Amino acid sequence: MNLPFGTITVTDTARRLVLEALDSKRLSSGRLVRRFEELFASNIGAQEAVAVSSGTDADALALAALYDFGAKRGDEVITPALSFVATGNSVLQAGFKPVFVDVDLETLNIDPSLIESAITDRTVAILPVHLMGKPADMDAINDIARRHDLFVIEDAAEAHGATYKGRNAGTLGDMSAFSLYVAHIITSVEGGVVVTQREDFAEVLRSLRSHGRACKCRQCVINTADKVCPRRFGDGPDRRFVFERIGYSCKMNELEAAIGLGSLELYEEILSRRGANLAAMMQAIEPFAPNLFTFRQEPHERIGPHALPIIVGQDAPFTRDELVQWLRQNEIDSRNLFECMPTQCRGFAFLGYRLGEFPNAEYIAENGLHVGVHQDLGPAHIDYFARTIRDFVLSRSANLRTAT
Ligand SMILES: Cc1ncc(COP(=O)(O)O)c(C=O)c1O
Repeated sequence: MNLPFGTITVTDTARRLVLEALDSKRLSSGRLVRRFEELFASNIGAQEAVAVSSGTDADALALAALYDFGAKRGDEVITPALSFVATGNSVLQAGFKPVFVDVDLETLNIDPSLIESAITDRTVAILPVHLMGKPADMDAINDIARRHDLFVIEDAAEAHGATYKGRNAGTLGDMSAFSLYVAHIITSVEGGVVVTQREDFAEVLRSLRSHGRACKCRQCVINTADKVCPRRFGDGPDRRFVFERIGYSCKMNELEAAIGLGSLELYEEILSRRGANLAAMMQAIEPFAPNLFTFRQEPHERIGPHALPIIVGQDAPFTRDELVQWLRQNEIDSRNLFECMPTQCRGFAFLGYRLGEFPNAEYIAENGLHVGVHQDLGPAHIDYFARTIRDFVLSRSANLRTAT
């Protein structure tokens, strides 16, 4: 048996829409992207969704939009030390300085009790991450943000389907950024989307994704069948060639939107399959605490079933890398649980952080991994996973007994 990390479900609707788009010869952002945005927004309960090329672009654009709302280049953004590196990259790509804060060992998310001491007079936003689909402590984060007049951008790249106190992750801050990369619950193969309740944010985001243009209507008609836009020329110059701000080039295209629309069609089904897999795999890990542990789902939340994190405990008679090897030999694909960005990702060295400053993030990075919980896995795969883990732990404990 083999357990790949991710999968993609391409529906008949997606196939039909891809062919329609190819036949229309209108492949850059157009009506399918608009439809995807509307459905994504209504699915999550937001007013606005702005589709882009990747989750990293979604993070960067949400941050860059803040320049229209008082932020200055070089301002600081507080974010957890542990995340997929794209979170930190996006802060720098947007022209801000990332200020890293350690995470909580049990939730894997930013530790809110450390945020206030990281705030300076240059801080403009907090960028929490719902890592592995577990919602960050948004009440505490929003409370700090309110008291210090900061924006909150959720990195919800991994949090499709997550809820926090009855509300969807992605609707808890000023803006949120989802990834639609292929291993994620809703996917357009490559892609991302920024979600917000505010029309003024969405307008700036639409401008930013297209070079900073003055053209930023929600229902842009230029790339659709109705090609004459009454607003484009109006009574002045061509708005498409008026550039209002420093922009990016990261629009979603029609083929990606077609795949994304198919993915949305199966959303509930995929979510429930992945949710059941995650729950069963968390149960399979439970007997091996504290040598192996994972996060807990609290009553106030639903974890978005992105993947199963596993962390090797401090006194375990084996290492993370030995477990990864064992899984590999048994054809179970895994990923490390990222790196502590400020101290373990070389690109961030210029910021001057020192190894040891983020003990929890560094611990998880050195001792954590994650495995897929995707919709192509069923009860037989989960049984196989549980047996493989049990055999590993028992064999290592037996080695220990023999050696002592
Ligand atoms: C937490 C987090 N943020 C941002 C991203 C970036 O998304 P993408 O790969 O679509 O650029 C990812 C990717 O999986 C992620 O896990």
